[in-house]
Amino acid sequence: MTRPLLNRRLAEFGTTIFAEMSALAARTGSINLGQGFPDTDGPEEIREAAVRALRDGRGNQYPPGPGVPELRTAVAEHQLKRYGLAYDPDTEVLITAGATEAIAASLLALLEPGDEVIALEPYYDSYAACIAMAGATRVPVTLRPHEGAYVLDLDELRAAVTDRTRLILLNTPHNPTGTVLTRTELTAIAELAVARDLLVVTDEVYEHLVFDDAAHLPIASLPGMRERTVTIGSAGKTFSFTGWKVGWITATPELTSAVRSAKQFLTYVSSGPFQYAVAEALRLPETYFDALRADLRAKRDLLSDGLERAGFAVYRPAGTYFVTTDIRPLGETDGFAFCRSLPERCGVVAIPNAVFYDHREEGAPFVRFAFCKRSDVLEQAVSRLQGL
Ligand SMILES: Cc1ncc(COP(=O)(O)O)c(C=O)c1O
Repeated sequence: MTRPLLNRRLAEFGTTIFAEMSALAARTGSINLGQGFPDTDGPEEIREAAVRALRDGRGNQYPPGPGVPELRTAVAEHQLKRYGLAYDPDTEVLITAGATEAIAASLLALLEPGDEVIALEPYYDSYAACIAMAGATRVPVTLRPHEGAYVLDLDELRAAVTDRTRLILLNTPHNPTGTVLTRTELTAIAELAVARDLLVVTDEVYEHLVFDDAAHLPIASLPGMRERTVTIGSAGKTFSFTGWKVGWITATPELTSAVRSAKQFLTYVSSGPFQYAVAEALRLPETYFDALRADLRAKRDLLSDGLERAGFAVYRPAGTYFVTTDIRPLGETDGFAFCRSLPERCGVVAIPNAVFYDHREEGAPFVRFAFCKRSDVLEQAVSRLQGL
């Protein structure tokens, strides 16, 4: 057989750096600050809620295609209470297998081959693969470091729109840079979307992980945006249950129905009992969300301070649980080579940001560390990194 087995749309996505780095972490006994999953599970009462659902026979068989009504109602309440966005749980909320499926289903549903999709680079790796699976073309607009943070160049964004642009794929708070888009930036993006009649798919899985003065603002709440925006959320990051894979979209009935058409042939449904537990999680008291933020903020500072002491230039994030660093002050320029050598040199694993770029050279000297780990693990990592 001479033809490659993997189709040409996916050829460039053969293996991920995450698999390579996690294998390296296991082989060298390193502390894995590469992949973004917490090393402590979410609230006990929410785990118990999942057990109760399993025992009571709720969700053990195929749940309804759009998701269980309890969860759809809880998602709608959450959007209303937090952001003043009213969605009908029956027609405007769709439960998915994590945000990952929500992204895939949204892009497969809304794109035609040949459409262009603007995405903020560096971007979460599934965006490029899903755009490719839809046969569309990605048009990256690069966030660039400026005075200690990564910022969006709005003129560059405007210039990236063509007659073929179908949608803007946003992510705020942004992985891997930790940037939280401001009201001014989101207003400019919204005005552009309205003026050029574009759809917006916005990945807001880190909506609750914002620190200091940063505030999360869903673009769907801005004028003219509710009717053209698919908003994506997930329980994984907010409740520290990344293995449950419960995500959702909120959008108009027409958009929700389009996304459901694709979703029903991906997983159809998933995570039955966990959906009931996440419905309870979304109604946890404010003290839960405050404590989550306070805990992660302290961990952000613990790791960021340690990285600074070790000689990195640090982009202290306004949101998410990732911190991007510049390795050039350490006399290094190649993030790939640096990350491949780091486990041997000091027993820590990180991810080279270049994997999140089309313009790899833009990301070459940057490296991402995750801080959603126990404090003692972060302290140990920091102490190992001082050896650099
Ligand atoms: C920006 C972003 N979107 C989506 C996801 C995936 O979310 P889920 O686990 O709910 O599929 C991640 C996970 O790291 C992420 O960083």
